[in-house]
Amino acid sequence: MQNIVTTELRPGMMTAAPACTNAGQVIIPKYVTLTRQLISHLQFYGITEVSILEDTIPTSEGVSSSDIINYDSQLKIDIESKHLKHSFIESLVNLTRHLNDVIIKNDNNEDDSLLSQTLRLLDSMQETVDVYDILHQIRKYDESTYAHSINVAIICRLMGQWFGKSKEDVDTLTLCGLLHDVGKIKIPRHILTKPGRLTNEEYEVIKRHPLEGYNMLKELPIDARIKRCALMHHERSDSTGYPLGLMKDDIDEFAIIVSIADVYDAMTSNRCYRIGLCPFEVVANFEREGFHKYNTRQVRSFLNRVVDSYMNNYVLLSNGNQGQIVWKNQEHLARPTIYLPTRNFLDLSVHPELYIQSII
Ligand SMILES: [Fe+2]
Ligand SMILES: [Fe+2]
Repeated sequence: MQNIVTTELRPGMMTAAPACTNAGQVIIPKYVTLTRQLISHLQFYGITEVSILEDTIPTSEGVSSSDIINYDSQLKIDIESKHLKHSFIESLVNLTRHLNDVIIKNDNNEDDSLLSQTLRLLDSMQETVDVYDILHQIRKYDESTYAHSINVAIICRLMGQWFGKSKEDVDTLTLCGLLHDVGKIKIPRHILTKPGRLTNEEYEVIKRHPLEGYNMLKELPIDARIKRCALMHHERSDSTGYPLGLMKDDIDEFAIIVSIADVYDAMTSNRCYRIGLCPFEVVANFEREGFHKYNTRQVRSFLNRVVDSYMNNYVLLSNGNQGQIVWKNQEHLARPTIYLPTRNFLDLSVHPELYIQSII
């Protein structure tokens, strides 16, 4: 038996002992023949060394040109895996900034964070569908679609928990969020990543991504709701959505949840051409647009949770004043009452000229 650093591992080697994380979680048991996928997996979990049976380690004389090609592709996979892990964490940090208190209040068990729950879920999928591979493809095509997919997955997971869904449904909802925009990798990159306004023709091309996504997923052995979410996440209950213009009862319930998470993340995330909106501006947008485009009860419940998470936070108002959120207004969630340093209460619902500009 010999300890081999993970970057030196090659397909065909066999583990002599279980490969474990620092926390003691077994990632690969002993006597398993490594594949490229398993090696990527070890990298993903940050495992730096693995015990290998010596007689499965190729000798230097035995190196052929195909091994060298494999080595190059392996190296590429190694690098991609490192980036994958890095961007998972980066995305979570990014998301944490938007949903800071929501995450902390709902995810205070560090041993079982939303991220580790999601990673475990992806692991459990490996036997049916390699979700990591799909994520690799999305990431290689467009970094911001990849980060957005993870954010939407985590928000969907939270929403599933908030709405009291079963564990299985929460897992399915997470996958619905993770794969909802997979069809974007079929959209020409120059249109997908174009900063600024799209022409009508370009917008029509972008609008093809739900159908493209559905076609990519339809043959896979996964829950039908994941496929329907790819197809229906831009449908709206009042039939103003696309690609089919469906009415409320014809839209998958999970697709409506994904659509709320999707819009929330799209508005709060920073893009290269604009800074993300403050959560209260996003809540205001939802209120202006009307809850009837979604599931009224669910969107109201989601926005309530978002606003609740910012209670007692200090905010900057559009007139430059600062204050503390002290009272939620159920009729105007984006317009709570603010306690000012002058010891006055400011009810934003009767001051339409003012709004919350940022959380401080
Ligand atoms: Fe989409
Ligand atoms: Fe999306």
